[in-house]
Amino acid sequence: MSDYRISGRRLLAGLLTIGLAALAQASTDNVKTIDADKKLQGDCVGCHINVTPGIVKQHLGSPHANATNPEDEVLCSDCHGDQHVTMEDWRESLMPTAETCGECHKKQARQHSEGKHELGWMVMKSQIAWHGQPGSITQEGYRGCSGCHKIGRKGLQGVTDGNTGKVRYDGGKEAAHYRYGNAQCDACHTRHSFKKSEAQDPRACSNCHMGFDHPQWEMYTSAKHGVIWGIEGHEEGKRAPTCQTCHLMEGDHAVRTPWGFLGLRIPTKDNVLALIDVAPSLEPQLTKLAAALPTGNYIDVDDDPTWVLNRALILQAAGVLDADFQPTERFVEIVVQAEAARGPEEFNEIRTKMKANCNKCHSMGFVNEHMRASDEIIRAADAEFAKAIQAVQGLYRDGILKKPEGWKYAPDLLQYYDATTKIEQELYLIMLEYRQRTFQGAFHASNDYMHWYGWAPLKTAVNTILEEEKRMRAEHAAVQAKEGDAVAVRH
Ligand code: HEC
Ligand code: HEC
Ligand code: HEC
Ligand code: HEC
Ligand code: HEC
Ligand code: HEC
Ligand code: HEC
Ligand code: HEC
Repeated sequence: MSDYRISGRRLLAGLLTIGLAALAQASTDNVKTIDADKKLQGDCVGCHINVTPGIVKQHLGSPHANATNPEDEVLCSDCHGDQHVTMEDWRESLMPTAETCGECHKKQARQHSEGKHELGWMVMKSQIAWHGQPGSITQEGYRGCSGCHKIGRKGLQGVTDGNTGKVRYDGGKEAAHYRYGNAQCDACHTRHSFKKSEAQDPRACSNCHMGFDHPQWEMYTSAKHGVIWGIEGHEEGKRAPTCQTCHLMEGDHAVRTPWGFLGLRIPTKDNVLALIDVAPSLEPQLTKLAAALPTGNYIDVDDDPTWVLNRALILQAAGVLDADFQPTERFVEIVVQAEAARGPEEFNEIRTKMKANCNKCHSMGFVNEHMRASDEIIRAADAEFAKAIQAVQGLYRDGILKKPEGWKYAPDLLQYYDATTKIEQELYLIMLEYRQRTFQGAFHASNDYMHWYGWAPLKTAVNTILEEEKRMRAEHAAVQAKEGDAVAVRH
């Protein structure tokens, strides 16, 4: 028996020599004797070679079972504890979290926790539309929103949880409701092979960064960078940059981009004050708003008053600014706590770092032009979007649209597809599909996404909204005229 204590580790070597099938036989024979000493690696592997042979095979082939220094070998029990040792008590095994990995990989765990991935679960829950769906659609079983957003830490508390200060961690209470899906790191280093090389491949990002509102995978593979990656191979040091080259520079796990997912940044004090000259009637509101904002300028393309106004309208339609352009509770939760938008200091810092990275292959002139052109595209898209928003806001103001029951803001872009009218459905598509593709396609140098999947349908939707507005106004006027006639007859 004591001999087997060592052979728990020797099982690795054994696997290579005896072969899997022979080992499986040997280990079943050993299960009973192993029961006598429950704290053995041999217990786990020996029994699991039958129970979950695929997992054992992956683990034994992983860097964890083959550490450069054999002393460092990682055992099943390092991640799952040693409380479960029989066929029946498997619920006693622990499921690892990012903290478990962080016990040995401090640097990556710290970086990961400083990046946007950490906030993924919290930002999902900050969405009013998410709360409107059945649990089966949004949360349970990790299909849909939660399947991708489980890369974030559970239990980060913001305004929705009654916390108006800095993001707070609940110490594991929320995570405890979930048996699976708390590991975070396994989004890119999947169990149980936990390879670095897997995470370095751009396909490792593609199950999440794809589709409707963030088709980075499709854009990358339809841009020259991805095309060359496809042609010339996948190893490190090749000619084409990957997602990781640009977003995990030097292996830094703290992912974050200047514009972020929504292509929105925090208006600066200086630019909001400049807006007063253009819109003097808004002076009191804007002066108050400016007081809450950071000062400074954005590099490459800075904001101008018109753009600031257009962006303020977008933020208003998202309920992030209220009717008086003042920050709402959503501003606190989504922008400040979940860090969905950046101010000038952070924006400029990340932009500068990203450009230096492009500069390893391209000239700075080329890179500057690319960034400026892409920033300009956001400005153009925002001007179109703001036109459409104002049309819908006007319908509410004039009583042609009525605020749906239970809505705090109207129009409310964050109600997504729960918007009740056709005209607001179009507005939602501009926000989450067309505008996204326009600017994301520009940055990723995917011309078809930028134009035909982005800008073109964006323009179509704006035109549809403006037409629909006219139609609704005419219809409303006709109904009112008829009611007026009816009243006149009755009198
Ligand atoms: C005597 C056999 C046996 C031994 C020894 C054993 N397991 Fe298991 N383990 C099982 C069985 C059976 C299951 C349930 C498998 C299933 O549902 O298909 C299981 C499930 C698990 C699960 C998944 C639990 C879940 O909720 O899905 C983990 C993790 C696990 N074992 C880890 C370990 C570790 C770590 C050890 C060693 C400390 C170990 N096992 C030792 C038989 C064993
Ligand atoms: C008990 C310590 C320990 C824990 C816990 C641990 N690891 Fe490791 N990890 C190691 C060691 C040791 C190596 C091998 C280093 C070497 O090559 O010598 C390693 C290697 C790795 C590598 C690099 C593999 C490669 O291809 O070079 C990755 C990625 C990794 N671990 C991810 C994880 C993840 C994700 C978790 C949590 C689910 C985790 N580790 C938990 C100790 C640990
Ligand atoms: C480096 C950490 C690490 C090691 C070592 C490790 N696991 Fe896991 N294991 C994980 C992670 C991460 C998950 C996924 C947890 C989740 O979904 O929350 C997991 C999940 C599981 C599951 C349940 C999910 C499934 O896919 O069925 C089983 C069973 C399991 N491990 C067995 C084992 C066994 C047996 C060993 C040793 C041969 C082992 N693990 C070694 C990290 C590890
Ligand atoms: C978004 C995908 C992604 C996530 C999530 C992720 N990693 Fe990584 N990880 C990578 C990439 C890419 C590399 C390779 C970096 C490089 O090229 O040096 C890497 C490398 C590593 C390495 C090997 C470092 C080295 O060079 O030896 C370890 C260890 C590691 N990650 C641990 C973790 C841990 C722990 C977590 C969770 C806290 C985690 N990773 C989460 C993508 C990810
Ligand atoms: C050549 C470098 C490069 C490559 C390769 C690349 N990106 Fe990007 N990515 C960028 C730039 C530049 C931005 C916009 C930066 C800014 O906001 O100023 C960006 C933005 C993003 C954003 C924020 C939203 C957006 O799309 O604007 C995400 C998420 C993202 N990239 C993920 C990915 C993924 C996933 C891949 C691989 C499928 C990838 N990127 C490939 C350079 C790159
Ligand atoms: C399991 C799904 C998943 C995988 C796999 C994944 N991500 Fe993400 N990623 C997300 C989610 C969700 C967010 C949004 C989190 C947030 O902003 O709160 C995000 C955000 C980002 C951002 C930040 C964009 C911003 O707002 O500035 C970058 C950059 C990024 N991911 C790059 C990558 C890269 C590169 C890979 C592959 C190495 C990758 N991700 C793998 C789900 C994933
Ligand atoms: C296919 C995977 C996937 C699904 C499904 C998904 N998301 Fe995301 N989500 C992501 C990724 C990846 C990002 C980051 C993209 C980027 O930065 O361009 C993201 C970003 C976000 C952001 C912006 C985060 C920020 O800080 O800017 C919010 C909010 C969000 N998702 C909410 C949701 C909600 C709510 C659902 C379900 C109704 C959902 N997501 C469904 C993958 C997904
Ligand atoms: C590892 C080297 C490398 C890095 C880093 C890199 N690129 Fe490239 N890029 C290339 C190569 C190679 C091409 C193809 C050259 C050609 O079109 O003749 C290319 C092409 C381009 C193109 C032209 C695409 C087209 O359709 O004509 C743009 C735009 C571009 N890169 C922008 C960037 C930006 C912006 C960054 C940084 C965010 C960046 N690149 C980082 C290697 C790189």
